[in-house]
Amino acid sequence: MKTFEGDDERDILLDAWQEASQGWGRQADGVRDSAMPVSVWMLDHAELKPGLSVLELAAGPGDTGFMAVQRIQPGGALISSDAVAGMLDVARERAQELGVEHVEFKQLQLEWIDIPTATVDVVLVKWAVMLLLDPSAALRECRRVLKPGGRLVIAVWEGPERNPWATIPQRAMVELGQMQPLAPGGPGMFALADHAELRELMEDAGLFDIEIEPIEMPRGYDSVTAWIGETIDLSRSFKGVWSKLADEDRRELRARIAELAEQYVDASGAVLLPAASLGAHATA
Ligand SMILES: C[S@@+](CC[C@H](N)C(=O)[O-])C[C@H]1O[C@@H](n2cnc3c(N)ncnc32)[C@H](O)[C@@H]1O
Repeated sequence: MKTFEGDDERDILLDAWQEASQGWGRQADGVRDSAMPVSVWMLDHAELKPGLSVLELAAGPGDTGFMAVQRIQPGGALISSDAVAGMLDVARERAQELGVEHVEFKQLQLEWIDIPTATVDVVLVKWAVMLLLDPSAALRECRRVLKPGGRLVIAVWEGPERNPWATIPQRAMVELGQMQPLAPGGPGMFALADHAELRELMEDAGLFDIEIEPIEMPRGYDSVTAWIGETIDLSRSFKGVWSKLADEDRRELRARIAELAEQYVDASGAVLLPAASLGAHATA
């Protein structure tokens, strides 16, 4: 029985992440590599040192937290978490493959973090707060679980104009009438791209010493086809449309994507697209 406003939408969003988890597992190495400038920026601003406890929320395949583990030894420990079981399975498998130790896995929701108050030294959240129905509740929860003086480091995305790697595939679908334009407002990749709005949310959550900075992370692919393949695995909305398209419509879509990205494709067919994340760090 649903009793709280937003529960249905939350369930739909989380079901979609559960469905996407295998695709995120398949693309995990590529996501880790292209996200490296963001993960390094996050760890550099987390003030990590031996003995600290780190909580990564919405960790997906878990790589940013796994990278933190080396910097908190000896004596430190990581909780790697996600709201959906499928992502946790992916992260567990990766930790095993990579030989990561000192990590515990927990299924946790960002808007209600089931962790006692003031128990964690560092909270990391990469590319998730803007996807939530209530980002301000999530930021308040992050502050609650941090010890006084603890560090919150998050990454969201700069605006669509700085992220053609993400916008071109959907724009092509819309232009070809294969999907409706996304409704403005509400949760989504670019929902916290406004620096002032992000700062205000963090201030309202009781955080201070807030710094916000763009992080360039150009995304390279061997071909337009490889880029589309990654997009199918990572983007739930793109995959939903793609899976229903006839071969002919897929060919038309691929051609339109290549046309829109022409300036980013070299003579060999390799693609290098601008991408910009947005990092924010603060003290609790
Ligand atoms: C865009 S992915 C980012 C994954 C990972 N942090 C990374 O940067 O590769 C968003 C992640 O947020 C998780 N997520 C979505 N809603 C959540 C919620 N309410 N609480 C916790 N995690 C959530 C998804 O399952 C998914 O793993």
